[in-house]
Amino acid sequence: MPQIAVIGAGYVGLVSGAILSDFGHNVTCVDIDEDKINSLKNGIIPIFEPGLERIVKNNYYYKRLDFTTDIQSAVQNNDVIFIAVGTPPADDGSADLQYVLAVAKDIATHMDGYKVIVNKSTVPVGAGQKVKAAVQAILAERGADYAFDVVSNPEFLREGSAVQDFMHPDRVILGAESDRAISVMKEVYRVLYLNETPFVETNIETAEMIKYASNAFLAMKITFINEVANVCEKVGADVQKVAKAMGRDGRISPKFLHAGPGFGGSCFPKDTRALVKIARDCGESISLVEATVAANDRQKLKMVDKIAGALGELNDKTLAVLGVTFKPNTDDMREAPSLVILPELVKRGAKLKVYDPAGRKEGDWRFAGIKDSLTWCGNAYEALAHTDATVILTEWNEFRNLDFDKFKEIGAGAYFFDLRNIYDKKSMVEKGFKYYGVGV
Ligand code: NAD
Ligand code: UDX
Repeated sequence: MPQIAVIGAGYVGLVSGAILSDFGHNVTCVDIDEDKINSLKNGIIPIFEPGLERIVKNNYYYKRLDFTTDIQSAVQNNDVIFIAVGTPPADDGSADLQYVLAVAKDIATHMDGYKVIVNKSTVPVGAGQKVKAAVQAILAERGADYAFDVVSNPEFLREGSAVQDFMHPDRVILGAESDRAISVMKEVYRVLYLNETPFVETNIETAEMIKYASNAFLAMKITFINEVANVCEKVGADVQKVAKAMGRDGRISPKFLHAGPGFGGSCFPKDTRALVKIARDCGESISLVEATVAANDRQKLKMVDKIAGALGELNDKTLAVLGVTFKPNTDDMREAPSLVILPELVKRGAKLKVYDPAGRKEGDWRFAGIKDSLTWCGNAYEALAHTDATVILTEWNEFRNLDFDKFKEIGAGAYFFDLRNIYDKKSMVEKGFKYYGVGV
């Protein structure tokens, strides 16, 4: 069985390492962040991801999973080295490869035999070849002649359901240049292979493009329904019914057709911009994705217009904001719609009372610039007390079943902005709310 190291113990690296160890492999997770590694060794999971803690603790206990900052021993003691570090957006929209290439150089500096270097980070087409060139250059400097393979194995997990997604992927993509690398990777994913998960074997460039094309398509689908929702509002149609009926067509599918305040997260926003850049750099354009990026930016501000349009002057208004993370079941706020919507509401004069089940820690520094107008609350009802309006920004389950009898008692206002369409408009209006959804 191949011995595995995963470099970068973030959302993707930690989930991948933990579940590969659960599949029976010996896995070492490496990170440069000493605090993170120490926490993990002490059973403290640095991210909020349902189901992950049990898997990490169990496999650490049985010594199938370990954590270290020592990249040299991780490279030398393992055969398959996953790169799972961040590829944040550079100023021009392209993916910043500096962390990936730094790891590639570290691997080349320490390798002492054949290694399969697996790129799990989302990287632009051509990055696999850059990793290969970086490794070759260092080996040449060292006068070393070790064989190695680079594999592109993009990851499709969603935060909040990452464990389930990694354990039951729709497909596994393997972009490689040798049969040897493919057969090692099939050993790594033996459990999935035996489960008859579809495997797509292709070249590195195709694998890299599959990831961007998939993310951009999903982002486009969300944006399409958001724009249809905006039209629905004007013409008296109900986007919920439209989406449901569209989804009945097997060619369309009902998934990723939920209208809302715009997509956020660590992937869609940066990956759509990166794909636009990849296309431009090779003299092409993907105009649908360009339009998606622009429409998604507009969608977030439209939510502010919706609120201000209904409430009028925001200067004397206090709003209860429920949810700030980019989606439920995560503490991640990267590119969350709240990062645009909350500061804009404050700019227009509103005071905010905010509650999120997991977003407080990151929210504290993300919203430092508007802290004088923002009060963090310990639960939904504390946030709702003495406010003019409710704004549901993230569809955490605990917001799906609010006790509306309490609203009057605690002085929560009648305006209800359900930006995730988790309540039924008709019954909310019957309860006396001035209800505003998205496209309903
Ligand atoms: P993250 O920021 O959560 O984690 C990255 C980790 O890498 C951090 O812990 C950081 O300390 C560590 N790191 C950075 N440089 C290092 C180095 N030189 N050596 C060791 N560790 C180093 O990032 P993430 O969300 O896990 O994303 C990682 C990659 O996976 C990105 O390319 C992303 O686009 C892609 N991806 C993310 C998701 C997701 O849902 N978050 C899903 C699919 C793909
Ligand atoms: C996404 C991809 O789904 C995943 O395959 C990839 O590996 C990483 O990026 P993630 O960002 O974790 O996953 O969550 P996802 O469930 O895709 O949601 C992304 C954003 O789109 C969220 O802001 C979510 O609220 C929004 N969204 C999603 C909608 O607005 N409507 C939908 O129908 C689906």
